[in-house]
Amino acid sequence: MKARAAIHRDFRIARIDDRLYGAFIEHMGRAIYSGIYEPGHPQADAAGFRQDVMRFVRDLAVPAIRYPGGNFVSAYDWKDGIGPQAERPVRLDLAWRSKETNQVGINEFAAWAEAAEIEMMLAVNLGTGTLQDAREFLEYVNHPGGTAWSDLRRAHGFEAPYGVKMWCLGNEMDGPWQIGHREAKDYGRVANETSKALKAYDPAIETIVCGSSHDEMPTYPDWEREVLEECYEKVDYISLHKYFGNNSRDTLNYFGKIEQTGRYIQTIGGVIDFVKAKKRATNDVHICFDEWNVWYHQRADDKARVKEWDWPEAPALLEETYNFEDALFVGGLLNEFIRCSDRVRIACIAQLVNVIAPIRAERGGPAWRQTIYWPYQMASLYGRGNALGVSVDAPTYNCRVADDVSYLDIAATLDTAEEVLTLFVLNRHPTEAAELDTGLTGFAAERIVFHRVLEGHDLRATNSAEQPDRIVPVEGHGAAVEDGRLRARLGSLSYHVIRIRVT
Ligand code: AHR
Repeated sequence: MKARAAIHRDFRIARIDDRLYGAFIEHMGRAIYSGIYEPGHPQADAAGFRQDVMRFVRDLAVPAIRYPGGNFVSAYDWKDGIGPQAERPVRLDLAWRSKETNQVGINEFAAWAEAAEIEMMLAVNLGTGTLQDAREFLEYVNHPGGTAWSDLRRAHGFEAPYGVKMWCLGNEMDGPWQIGHREAKDYGRVANETSKALKAYDPAIETIVCGSSHDEMPTYPDWEREVLEECYEKVDYISLHKYFGNNSRDTLNYFGKIEQTGRYIQTIGGVIDFVKAKKRATNDVHICFDEWNVWYHQRADDKARVKEWDWPEAPALLEETYNFEDALFVGGLLNEFIRCSDRVRIACIAQLVNVIAPIRAERGGPAWRQTIYWPYQMASLYGRGNALGVSVDAPTYNCRVADDVSYLDIAATLDTAEEVLTLFVLNRHPTEAAELDTGLTGFAAERIVFHRVLEGHDLRATNSAEQPDRIVPVEGHGAAVEDGRLRARLGSLSYHVIRIRVT
């Protein structure tokens, strides 16, 4: 198929917030225990953190990480996770019917995040927790000393405060499954008061109020309107979540969920604008898409297993094995986040290790990278700077979730410091290669400095502990800069990252 695209240096969507490539990790399954933390593992350091996992995490350049939940946080008492490890209580985790040993708490996690060079984004419990718990947590974490909670942290051996800037006001409070679920107005009021208290300590703190758990919730998008009407002036972000799947084995429809997500974001953008206008507010609220990923391969089995099991400790849960199709999907979804970066400032892949994650860590065994690791890594490394608008003229298709979907999905970023233009291109056509001709205006495009591609695999092919590098990006061919235009031949079902030196 023939396709044309046009990119102009001055058609800037937004300056991308680096936190668009954030991640999420929860106390559930084997995310923490035997994921990032496994004392006695041959790769563990003195503190018990797996260095093989740490290397893979560092290579992703994750800017921010949301912790400790998720559904878990809604019945979690952060005080269980401080002080001498031997004295910490074992608790029942009601969200995942598991046992929580509390061997990792805020101080251990902060040490891990610092070593991984990731900024923490902490969630407070607004399910069973109170405003008082939230403000005490903040004092323990951020206050230098001279108060009961900050001195307790120091007595625990952590002299320096952590200076955590991002605070999530609960998790998925719209969900009837959430421990302590509330109606929108009720939650909006609690979020308003909690945010007020956190900002009373430090006005520079950014708070994130819960939006919808997904766009098929019966309360969507009234939930966002009602919640924001209670707290708009006191919060900085509204969170959105969405998980994706292809149960019907309809690849084009699966890929159409990328467009559907764009609509989700634009709808909530409209709700934000509506509430802002209604309240005559002067502040802006952005979107924090703090849970997104593919989650369907294991979902039904896991749901059934969790109901039956007898409170196991760190069970294998939500351990999706991702295939090539999922990697293509994730590449396209990240393109949508780049295109919507004027609205979406923060986004978090959910999750980071073992649980619906790009990194798998076998208990006592090796760590390996899933197929989706690669598009996430390339977007994180190369998708920084300015997001540029791309006008694409390519054949389109209709599917159940969207109409007029272009077979070619393209996002572009301009790294002004390095003078590099990066194109992220997904060819979703099941059989046809694309002959792409892209006009580059406002740049002197010199040459391609990097071209990596994921292509040529069976859609169901996966990586595994035995074959960890079956699906990895390889050197791309068939692209060239000629007369200030990018011409490229992009195979069917392929994802490309093409970086061009420009002046
Ligand atoms: O990421 C897994 C779970 O999905 C989280 O705990 C919850 O917030 C969401 O429903």
